[in-house]
Amino acid sequence: MTDAPLMAGKSVLVTGGTGGIGKATAIGLAALGARVAITGRDQARTEAAAAGIRAATGSPAVDAFAADMSVQAGVRRLAVQVLDTYPRLDVLVNNVGGFWAHRHVTADGLERTFALNHLAPFLLTGLLLDRLTASAPARVVTVSSGAHAGGRIDFEDLQGERNYSGQRAYSQSKLANVMFTYELARRLDGTGVTATVLHPGVVRTSFGAEDQAAYFAVMSRVARLFMKIPAQGAVTSIYLASSPEVEGITGRYFANRKPKPASKAAYDTAAAARLWQASAGLAGLTATT
Ligand SMILES: NC(=O)c1ccc[n+]([C@@H]2O[C@H](COP(=O)([O-])OP(=O)(O)OC[C@H]3O[C@@H](n4cnc5c(N)ncnc54)[C@H](OP(=O)(O)O)[C@@H]3O)[C@@H](O)[C@H]2O)c1
Repeated sequence: MTDAPLMAGKSVLVTGGTGGIGKATAIGLAALGARVAITGRDQARTEAAAAGIRAATGSPAVDAFAADMSVQAGVRRLAVQVLDTYPRLDVLVNNVGGFWAHRHVTADGLERTFALNHLAPFLLTGLLLDRLTASAPARVVTVSSGAHAGGRIDFEDLQGERNYSGQRAYSQSKLANVMFTYELARRLDGTGVTATVLHPGVVRTSFGAEDQAAYFAVMSRVARLFMKIPAQGAVTSIYLASSPEVEGITGRYFANRKPKPASKAAYDTAAAARLWQASAGLAGLTATT
């Protein structure tokens, strides 16, 4: 008799699964037997990626949801579709994220890096939390970056209206991912839902390609030679989403499948609570945990 695959019977949502680290994460989890949903902005591209994941893994259980997650209506529509389709949700991988050298404003009037990298996972997690809790033990895994260490939450200018820099906005959003995870873990204590956050490494993907600063483009041509491939970049996401070794582990930051200390700022509980309140206000999310 052969053992059932590790993730058999589990349902997983990976945001931003059409390419890069997210697609590699979806492939890894589908190969472990999970039913996997991926998201992307464009319906045809997302369907094509889902077909690619089915072909790569031999698993038919791969679903595609198209949603522009930089817009809150898109996140809300996505949550409704997921709740309608998935009677249980065992793992949410908040992977979607991007870098923009210049300041862009979303249809909600929010700076795009903050909206997509932080508010989208904040809102999506809030909208799916009851389903995750009902499916406990369940996991929320959020993809941050080592760049969080250079970040500072500028409560006076969260949207970079006064002074935008792509690097500053990105680092702030990735610090927000870590603070969100730590605060979520505190709020979910005793529910059976864990929250972990990770740095995937420096990975050769389409990251930042939509709006690169000139120096970033030159740097990245050289740097790309030394980067991880997406399958290597997905290792820690897959580990945190599936491994029995991290069952019950919550409120921790990981890199290379190992717990690591995050930056000092990430442990500021007063700032994390303030960020939560500000985010709930901006996302129009009231009654969460
Ligand atoms: N690459 C690295 O070296 C690195 C290092 C540290 C952390 N990270 C983090 O890892 C995560 C994944 O990055 P990656 O390098 O794999 O990026 P990527 O190759 O650019 O992939 C981004 C994914 O997000 C989707 N996406 C982008 N904008 C979206 C939007 N508005 N709404 C919905 N989906 C959207 C893309 O799908 P479509 O284009 O099809 O919409 C794609 O599937 C990010 O959170 C990033 O911050 C990456």
